[in-house]
Amino acid sequence: MDRINASVDFDRRLYAEDIRASAAHADMLVRQGIITAADGAEISRGLALVLAEIEGDRFTFERALEDIHMNVEARLAELIGAPAGRLHTARSRNDQVATDFRLWVRAQIDTLDAALCELQSALIDRAEEHAATIMPGFTHLQSAQPVTFGHHLLAYVEMVGRDRGRLRDARVRLNECPLGAAALAGTSFPIDRAATAQALGFDRPMANSIDAVADRDFALEFLSAAAIAAMHLSRLAEELVIWSSAQFRFIRLSDAYSTGSSIMPQKRNPDAAELVRAKAGRIIGALIALLVVMKGLALAYGKDLQEDKEPTFDAADSLALAVAATTGMIRDLTVDAAAMRAAAASGFATATDLADWLVRTLGLPFRRAHEITARIVSRAEAKGCALDALPLAEMQAEEPGITAAVFEVLTVERSVASRTSLGGTAPQRVRDAVRAARARLV
Ligand code: ARG
Repeated sequence: MDRINASVDFDRRLYAEDIRASAAHADMLVRQGIITAADGAEISRGLALVLAEIEGDRFTFERALEDIHMNVEARLAELIGAPAGRLHTARSRNDQVATDFRLWVRAQIDTLDAALCELQSALIDRAEEHAATIMPGFTHLQSAQPVTFGHHLLAYVEMVGRDRGRLRDARVRLNECPLGAAALAGTSFPIDRAATAQALGFDRPMANSIDAVADRDFALEFLSAAAIAAMHLSRLAEELVIWSSAQFRFIRLSDAYSTGSSIMPQKRNPDAAELVRAKAGRIIGALIALLVVMKGLALAYGKDLQEDKEPTFDAADSLALAVAATTGMIRDLTVDAAAMRAAAASGFATATDLADWLVRTLGLPFRRAHEITARIVSRAEAKGCALDALPLAEMQAEEPGITAAVFEVLTVERSVASRTSLGGTAPQRVRDAVRAARARLV
């Protein structure tokens, strides 16, 4: 029973939140005349001692005492005696754990937000540096149209920005205080829930005592935002793996974020990127685990809810690591601009520019221009040359109206420079986007 029932092995992580919430509760009990000022003072003094013991590694956690709440309270009783027994007036472990856990998740959101901001800043710096560095843009992982490396990196700045927005939104809904809901029905003592809510930095007390102890949607929102962020990081990680491969050589990851092979001396493995890619698995798993724990659970508290913590802790730790590793990789990586440009120039990546030229200069309908371009690409393919190296006569055989002026749009530089539409990849647009992204960064 102890082994299945006890949670202290993992919920000890909530010790600081538990003590903080207890101190706020005790202060409120004094102000409301529910306990004496003398008892309240003893409780505060004792809680500070407990905190110091835990932080100084001088605290013995007892599994027999089940969870962090009972461990703290039992030690408080050893330290201050009788007044400790008054702390649990007008509360229950049910509202206590809901409060502690909200405080913990809220702190994680804030830390994560700062870390994601750092990642954006790293991406923006590299994007500025590579605003005009040409690489192939892909669809279906096939070379599609040339883009700049800076533009590609800025795509992730946008994604991370929305990840931060989701976390912020979750924080707003999370920030109500369950304390004072007691076991589930509220209490007959004249407590001041607004006071404890305020002392703990919540916007207000939760309105319904049953909801306050029964729901964990705040953790689910955190996990869903975390899962989406992890998914984004895993896409970037996968690209780092691909780009750093010997077949691509677009980038080189720093030694700090690569490992050698114990048997193949030539290898530089992108382990950190692979692990970031994989962390998404356990973070998404945490979301699913808690959703399944919660579904069909009758109100109010059930011990099932104790299973909310481990997946949430693990997801928060995993995501923090993944963000830090990604930031490090982005800051450190070196770019092989020549390899990127060569790849961008292969695969007829300026075919769309040729079709657009036929539309713009000869007034052809786009569908018709598309067919002609496809045939010109086939000719280049047969000759084994790039589009801008195909003789004019070959092009004119498909469309007599084509003139030498067409060659102006067939280089990757011209192609990229022409994509000046809002949000497009033209280096000038990318520089504007860098400036705008930096201005938004807080
Ligand atoms: N360890 C418990 C949890 O994490 C604390 C609440 C226990 N409440 C109770 N009525 N047994 O959920």
